[in-house]
Amino acid sequence: MILRLKERLGKRFEEEVQFFKGWQKDKKGVGALIPTSIYAARRMASVVNPRSGLPVLELGAGTGVITKAILARGIKPHLLVSIEYSRNFYNGLVRRFPNVDVRLGDAFALDEVLGERKIDQFDCVISAVPLLSFPMDRRVVLVEDLLTRIPPGRPVIQITYGPLSPVIKMPDRYEASHYDFVVRNIPPAQLWTYRRAV
Ligand SMILES: C[S@@+](CC[C@H](N)C(=O)[O-])C[C@H]1O[C@@H](n2cnc3c(N)ncnc32)[C@H](O)[C@@H]1O
Repeated sequence: MILRLKERLGKRFEEEVQFFKGWQKDKKGVGALIPTSIYAARRMASVVNPRSGLPVLELGAGTGVITKAILARGIKPHLLVSIEYSRNFYNGLVRRFPNVDVRLGDAFALDEVLGERKIDQFDCVISAVPLLSFPMDRRVVLVEDLLTRIPPGRPVIQITYGPLSPVIKMPDRYEASHYDFVVRNIPPAQLWTYRRAV
């Protein structure tokens, strides 16, 4: 029991060190100092509908905290497509989740990264891409692109650390809703969802 606890703490420490190194290399691209907490990860994964039969798209998978929470919702690994921009994080994800469809690439160039899966419909999108590091027009284009890849009414959920929706509200084009405020995350995180009208 103590051995298992030590193993788990050791693994978490390793992930935090890996994350911190990633942040040192590319502060804007990584966007946070330590990995997403399991509390925030579970809240984000709670939007997944495991009964839809559709794959799930994850953006900015980093060390895989949210990846793990999505799998824990009952999604089969081959039904999860996780995209990560940093090669170091990507290598770690491939080792940790050998059966997940982990792809190295840019969430802003999805057709290219998804390749043969670019026409797939996904159940929802779980995104930890640090949107605040990108200009607003690119954020809007990204969300609208993501919304074409999921059924109307299903969410793109985005984690962010600012007080406002990271994507400007445009009620005539999509609905933006505050989903949750997760205090048990460093820094405390805001979760937002974006949906097309049904
Ligand atoms: C705030 S971190 C969160 C990572 C993950 N939730 C975790 O806790 O390890 C954001 C992640 O998004 C990745 N990222 C940044 N820009 C990206 C992009 N354009 N496409 C895909 N991933 C991106 C970063 O490399 C980083 O791993």
